Amino acid sequence: MIEDVLPDIAESDLEAFFQITHTIYGYDFRDYARASVLRRLGTILKKYGLPDVKALNQRLLKQKEFFETFLSEFTIGTTELFRDPSAWVALRKQALPLFLSTSQIRIWHAGTSTGEEVLSLAILLTEMGLYPRAQIFATDIDQKALQTAPKARYPLRYKRTYQENFQQVLPDVPFSRYAYEEGNELVFDPQLLRNVRFLRHNLVSDEPFSRFEMILCRNVLIYFTPELQDRVIRKFIQALVPGGILMIGTKESLFWCKEAEKKLASVNNLERIYRRQG
Ligand SMILES: C[S@@+](CC[C@H](N)C(=O)[O-])C[C@H]1O[C@@H](n2cnc3c(N)ncnc32)[C@H](O)[C@@H]1O
Repeated sequence: MIEDVLPDIAESDLEAFFQITHTIYGYDFRDYARASVLRRLGTILKKYGLPDVKALNQRLLKQKEFFETFLSEFTIGTTELFRDPSAWVALRKQALPLFLSTSQIRIWHAGTSTGEEVLSLAILLTEMGLYPRAQIFATDIDQKALQTAPKARYPLRYKRTYQENFQQVLPDVPFSRYAYEEGNELVFDPQLLRNVRFLRHNLVSDEPFSRFEMILCRNVLIYFTPELQDRVIRKFIQALVPGGILMIGTKESLFWCKEAEKKLASVNNLERIYRRQG
């Protein structure tokens, strides 16, 4: 397949790229899956009309203000409201009821991107009467995405997919309870974000937060090497209270992590929902 042909990038240029992004900007991409790094760099070169990674490196060195734009392109922010609806059905039916008598529900949504998943979570919590007890930390490294997320406004062309996903997860609830059209935008009820804090946080290098009843991190680990996946999953396990829930993406796995084998029990293996034991 054409899109699987990786761009031909000189190893020395790639090494310089890792050095610059790490030492100047504090982002260590060395443990990101190599194929994904090459693919993203190829796309960025094309988009900015740069002949090679050497030229990109020059631009990163000379134009500090270019970095946030670069970072937003480099990290893939694809997301949806109730992405993979069956996973959210499983969360609603099998995981969230565990918190019906918990007085405080602290949730970490890591890799929140433009916020659609955090809205999905807020909608489920609201429908189950759990929202007033919830405190949600929604984090990402992409500052541009983090500026979009709190607005809870998306291009109207997404409505069809978002509404279809919504209806699969909550067939008896009208979509209009939470979202409406305004001009060419789909706007979500701002009340859904009243207990959400959006924060910049790097899973690779920043200290993890702690004492969470639930951590959701979907479609982020897939971009990391197995070693980095292992490190991040260990951080998640540590950050969960006993009995706490971890949800990862349906295309991801805990296979690489021995700690997960010891400490996590499956709630729904197919939908990648786990519970910390002890
Ligand atoms: C494909 S999106 C997934 C969004 C959402 N979780 C979903 O599944 O729909 C991956 C997100 O992970 C973020 N990300 C990548 N590396 C990260 C890191 N080291 N720390 C925190 N977030 C990261 C990206 O910026 C991007 O927003």
